[in-house]
Amino acid sequence: MVINCIIIGHGAREHVIGEALVKGGANLYSFMSFKNAGLEDLSKKIKIHSETDFKEIIDFCNENKIDFAVIGPEAPLVVGIVNALEKGGIPCVGPKIEAAQLEGSKIFTRGLLKKYKIKSNIWSKEFNSMDGVTDFIDEKGADNLVVKPDGLTGGKGVKVYGDHLFSKRDIIDYCQELIDQKNLFILEEKCEGEEFTLQTFVDGNNVIGTPLVQDHKRAYEGDSGPNTGGMGSYSIENHLMPFITQEDVDDVLKDMKNVVAAVKTETGVEYKGFLYGQFMKTAKGNKLIEFNARMGDPEAMNVLPLLKTNFLDVCQAIINGTLDKLTIEFDKKATVCKYLAPEGYPVSPKRDELVKINMDKINKIGASLYYASIYRENRNIYTTTSRAIGVLGIADNLETAEKIAEKGVGCVEGKLFHRKDVGTRELLQKRIDHMDSLLK
Ligand code: AMP
Ligand code: GLY
Repeated sequence: MVINCIIIGHGAREHVIGEALVKGGANLYSFMSFKNAGLEDLSKKIKIHSETDFKEIIDFCNENKIDFAVIGPEAPLVVGIVNALEKGGIPCVGPKIEAAQLEGSKIFTRGLLKKYKIKSNIWSKEFNSMDGVTDFIDEKGADNLVVKPDGLTGGKGVKVYGDHLFSKRDIIDYCQELIDQKNLFILEEKCEGEEFTLQTFVDGNNVIGTPLVQDHKRAYEGDSGPNTGGMGSYSIENHLMPFITQEDVDDVLKDMKNVVAAVKTETGVEYKGFLYGQFMKTAKGNKLIEFNARMGDPEAMNVLPLLKTNFLDVCQAIINGTLDKLTIEFDKKATVCKYLAPEGYPVSPKRDELVKINMDKINKIGASLYYASIYRENRNIYTTTSRAIGVLGIADNLETAEKIAEKGVGCVEGKLFHRKDVGTRELLQKRIDHMDSLLK
């Protein structure tokens, strides 16, 4: 019997999730606030509508006899899409609102980690007014601090001393700005090291790791320029990073298991879905930077195409709590994903610009394309104000994967830019040297 799946969301992450579902043999349906051309091509039926209108989603699922839903982005998760859909009889791959707080509230997460003595936690303090802010800055030292608004900020609200804030005055001004906007915030320890991402499949109790990935948040080459949603990411054929060992992975995976158990004890709700752990390896050990209640974008593109196990089986095991009975395997290959973004992104992106794609050439090269924020009109494709297209290269080693991605990028014409350095040996060496200098 063919399984009917629905994917909620409209970006490149949802495109690759949809592709994995179809590859697994599913009939795909897509519900998205903005039409993704890739999902449109893969789906039996699509609906363009708000991703937080739960009643419409349930009606669409019932009309199409949907067996289960996969939730791509965080926005519907943190307002309870899974609670609503499950109440409507539709099983979901994604956490309920109580568990999705791991992404939705930094105060919840730091509080939980503190209470359950999770090893990778760092010191932090929450504030709901300016009371005590100055004392805390004086106690810890301005240059040791990071300011984080409590809720979702699309990756743009976190400000780090030395990157975005350069004095005690800057910190106080930013905190005041947050209070004026009626935002709660935390001040937390600034870590120094190299970041890595561990995405996991979680069924309430079992937490299964996938290949490590490193993202590139800065807009321009050499990690300069403003922060973005992520300009590209890579993974290596041994599923580690040159500066991250198997012991590091075991260490943070243990913490993620402890966090999943803590969520259940604390909220009474089991965490189910994808849990994305962003960690930093520092001279003081591995530190948790943040959790996301979903897969990453672009990081999903580094992991799902390598999955050898049927993704439908993974989703059903997440729903049924049976991940321990499934052998989950990934190809021992390297991946490089480069995002093409409209010129001017993220500050003043050029929208409605024509994009031309030479699909025959891309297929010959062996690269894959994932559509993000572009739209199709009369068979032409145009940019919007966000990241446009992810180009993925997969190969036996990083060097070849990078070349495939770069050649793939060359088949796309338009007023777009990308980071040539993502996945290159030079950038990787810089990171290895940075880590070595810290661990000396
Ligand atoms: P987030 O939105 O929490 O991922 O933060 C965005 C970026 O800010 C992260 O990818 C880090 O590069 C940086 N960041 C966040 N928290 C910290 C921290 N405690 N120490 C140093 N850098 C941080
Ligand atoms: N690429 C970072 C994220 O998805 O949050």
